[in-house]
Amino acid sequence: MYNLKELAESVIKKPGVFLDETKLYPEYVPENLPHREEQFKQLVKIFKHVVVSPGSSSARVVLYGSLGTGKTATAISFGKVITRLASEKGIKLRYAHVNCASTRSALSVLREVKNQLSLSIPDRGLGLSEFAQALLKEMDREDLYAIVTLDEFDSVLTSFKGEDKYALIRFYDMFHSDILRLNFIYISRMKLNDVLRILDEISGSYMMRNTILFNPYKSRELFDILKYRADEAFYPGVVDDYVFEYIANLIGYDTGGDGNARKALAILYAAGKLAEKEIEEGKVVRVLVDHVRAVSASEDLGLIHVLDSLNYLSTHQLLLLKAIALGLKETGESYVNIGYVEEIYRRLCFNLGIEPRRHTQIYYYVTELANRGIVMVKKALKGRRGRSSYVSFGAAPIDSLLKVIERTIAMRREIGE
Ligand SMILES: Nc1ncnc2c1ncn2[C@@H]1O[C@H](COP(=O)(O)OP(=O)(O)OP(=O)(O)O)[C@@H](O)[C@H]1O
Ligand SMILES: [Mg+2]
Repeated sequence: MYNLKELAESVIKKPGVFLDETKLYPEYVPENLPHREEQFKQLVKIFKHVVVSPGSSSARVVLYGSLGTGKTATAISFGKVITRLASEKGIKLRYAHVNCASTRSALSVLREVKNQLSLSIPDRGLGLSEFAQALLKEMDREDLYAIVTLDEFDSVLTSFKGEDKYALIRFYDMFHSDILRLNFIYISRMKLNDVLRILDEISGSYMMRNTILFNPYKSRELFDILKYRADEAFYPGVVDDYVFEYIANLIGYDTGGDGNARKALAILYAAGKLAEKEIEEGKVVRVLVDHVRAVSASEDLGLIHVLDSLNYLSTHQLLLLKAIALGLKETGESYVNIGYVEEIYRRLCFNLGIEPRRHTQIYYYVTELANRGIVMVKKALKGRRGRSSYVSFGAAPIDSLLKVIERTIAMRREIGE
């Protein structure tokens, strides 16, 4: 929705295609989520007790599905709606959303929960179990209920130690309480079978009692999503209808794409940016299929893929990625020696006051980044001696990439990881 006065003012100030481009940023959560009504309804059913008979049970659910299928956005929207409903009934319910990829232990996850629930617990020196008890006690004292989303939970499953994993999955088995005030939403990109393989039988059946699948979006679904998001972000009538159709077909799962809404929206955004560049005095500019073609043929798509991956990389992997980008930038070549990358990486760690990982670990990280298609690795360049390896990025433009990596690292450090 746009306000006509604002609209008039912004046209006068600066002609462009965007009414509000922040509405297309990946972290923006829109008011509605077309084609996720079913998942939303299932969430309400599972957590109904929180507004009907709070404290009677503690619910858990796993939201699973591939990249950009609306898991995070749906959880956040659900959190907003359910806390509003609860407050209308005089129930004190809060919602917390923790990105587990940037935490390393159950304790740091609970600390983040405590912060988001605005609880006052002096957390200096408390161990996991003391901290959990203190959290429960404080919630009792405030008569507070909470729904906690543990996003990027795959990093807990694959890299947390056993006890920490179980604390987050079987919270009330480890920490007892009469009134069950905490409820959990776990978000995963894994197939359920793979989750089960990682966990023991009890924890597995615990986690799997409630699951909600997020299918990759079909082309016709993406069409609706793009149109809706464009309504918020662009001036009316600026985007050609064929644009939505073209992107939807490019990304739609049923038309050969991976059904990733984030990618579809990023293409729409990039096409808008491109159209905006063509603005001249007095000329009306529209976003056309040609802009989308130019974007999807250009390097920006490589960037979008890398951006998609940053969320689930560890801080050290991000630093390594930054070192590779800096190395490529400094040398101006298309591949950079791993030894040199490692040197830059150590310097970055030193500047941040953190202990660098060992050589073997770094090599492992690079292999993992290569397996995910984020970097490319080459042995011994032609015409050079030695058997060392060289790394490079796919097709991402380095300056934009560096900016985003830096922002992600800064965000991680802000929350103390
Ligand atoms: N149904 C929808 N309607 C409008 N926008 C959507 C919808 N689904 C997803 N989006 C948007 O697409 C982007 C990706 O969605 P989201 O972050 O929720 O995906 P995800 O499933 O959590 O992906 P990942 O596994 O990569 O974290 C977000 O910007 C989100 O706002
Ligand atoms: Mg997500």
